[in-house]
Amino acid sequence: MKLGIITSGGDAPGMNVAVRAVVRYAIKNGFEVYGYKDGYKGILENNFERLYNRSVSGLLNKGGTILGTSRVPEFLNSSVQLKAAQNMKDFGITNLIAIGGDGTYHGAYELDKLGINVVGIPGTIDNDVALTDFTLGFHTALNTINEAVDKLRDTSSSHKRCAIVEVMGRNCGDLAIYAGICGGAEMINTPENRLKKEDVIEKLKKMKNEDRSYALFITTEKMYDNLADFAHEITEKSGFHAVPTVLGYIQRGGSPSSEDRLLGTQMGIYAVELVVKGIHGVAVGIRNTKIVHDSFLDVFATKRKKSKLYDLLEEVS
Ligand code: F6P
Repeated sequence: MKLGIITSGGDAPGMNVAVRAVVRYAIKNGFEVYGYKDGYKGILENNFERLYNRSVSGLLNKGGTILGTSRVPEFLNSSVQLKAAQNMKDFGITNLIAIGGDGTYHGAYELDKLGINVVGIPGTIDNDVALTDFTLGFHTALNTINEAVDKLRDTSSSHKRCAIVEVMGRNCGDLAIYAGICGGAEMINTPENRLKKEDVIEKLKKMKNEDRSYALFITTEKMYDNLADFAHEITEKSGFHAVPTVLGYIQRGGSPSSEDRLLGTQMGIYAVELVVKGIHGVAVGIRNTKIVHDSFLDVFATKRKKSKLYDLLEEVS
C-alpha cells in the first residue's frame, strides 16, 4: 500500500504539521509513504522520496513546507493530468493526500477522476476554501498580522498618522476582517465589504474633526490599482498623513500557531482514516470544531459564507 503526499500552491504554516501527522499515522496503518517535491511538479517529474517517522521529526514548529511547493498552471491541461496519474500508477502509488487551496483541489479532483484516490487538506493562509471554517495557516498568518498592526499602531499614534495596512487573502477578506477586529481598525476594506474611496476619506475627515489622533485602515490586497496613490489622496484630502504598509510574504512565514498545530494534526490523521476506509475525491474540513469531509465537487459548488464578524463592525467602531 503506497500513499503519496504533496503540498501545493502558496505555502502555509501548518502544512508541515499535517505532513508529519499523515506520514506517522499512515505508516502505523501499514502504508509506505512517498513525499513528492514541489507539489504537482514533483509528480510530473517523478521527483519523490520515501518518508519515514524520522523524516518528519522536528516539524511541529517549522513554517513553510519541507516538501516544497509550486504553482503549475499547465496542470489545467488534461494531457498533463494524464501524465501525472500515469507516473503515479507506474510506481504503484494510487493514493494521494494533497495539501493546498482551491487550485490544488482542482488538480486533485482531476487526478481522482483518473483513478488516483485523492483526499485534500485545506492549506492556505487565505481561508478561502468552502465548507471549512478554517484552513491551515490562517491563524498563524492572523497572529503575524496582529503583531505587525500593533507595532504600526504605536508609530501611528506617536506621529498622529493613518496607517493603511494591506494584507493577503486573494479574493477573500477573512485575514483583513479578523485582523481588523483584533486590531481595532477604524475601517476594513474587503472583497465582501468594499468601501468607496470617498467614504474612507469622509470618515477620516470626520475623525480628524473629532480630534482623533490616529487611524487604522486595513485592506485586502488587490483592492486598489495603486495603494500608494490612494494614500497620497487621503493625505491631501482628509487631514491625516496616510502611510501604506504592504505586509506581503511576511504573512506566509513563521512557526505555526497552536491552532494550526492542532488543526494540522487532526486533519492529517483524519485524511489518513479516509484513505484507509477507501473514501476519496473528498476534502477534509473543520466545521463547528468537528473535523468533516465533503466531496471536491461540493467544495467547488459552495460559496463561502461571509464572516459573521462583519456584524460586529458597527458595534465596536
Ligand atoms: O494563496 C496564498 C497567497 O499568499 C495569496 O494570499 C496571494 O494572493 C498569493 O498567494 C501570492 O502568490 P505567489 O506566492 O504566487 O506570489
